[in-house]
Amino acid sequence: MIPDSVIVALQKEMQTAGYISREAVQRIADEFHLSPTQVYSVASFYQQFTFVPQGKNVIAVCTGTACFIAGAEKILAVLREELGIGEGEVTPDGKFSIQKNTRCLGKCASAPIVTINDRVYEKATPAQIREAIRELR
Ligand code: FES
Repeated sequence: MIPDSVIVALQKEMQTAGYISREAVQRIADEFHLSPTQVYSVASFYQQFTFVPQGKNVIAVCTGTACFIAGAEKILAVLREELGIGEGEVTPDGKFSIQKNTRCLGKCASAPIVTINDRVYEKATPAQIREAIRELR
């Protein structure tokens, strides 16, 4: 049985480092007297944890059903045009990353939903997101 405090340790690592490194997996395993495989299994189960470094600006495009129907794909296309990256990727300069597999954020009535860092864009349009990206450059 994996203690809940392992999840808390992984969440803290995400907050401080922005991702779960191999070293972090080993450190958490040592702290809780688990094998690295056990810690990795827990971390890989939850979408909130990522194993690749994030960009300075983290973008999430909800691709749940309502947002997909409302045009999430068009927003992802704009991001690819502007940044040259897709979901789960980081720009070479480390300035932007797009989270992978972002599912329903609970705001379906305002679809499509995009978050950039702490800001939530409801009924997001491709033009609005293009503008937001250009401002952050
Ligand atoms: S499907 Fe995107 S917020 Fe629900």
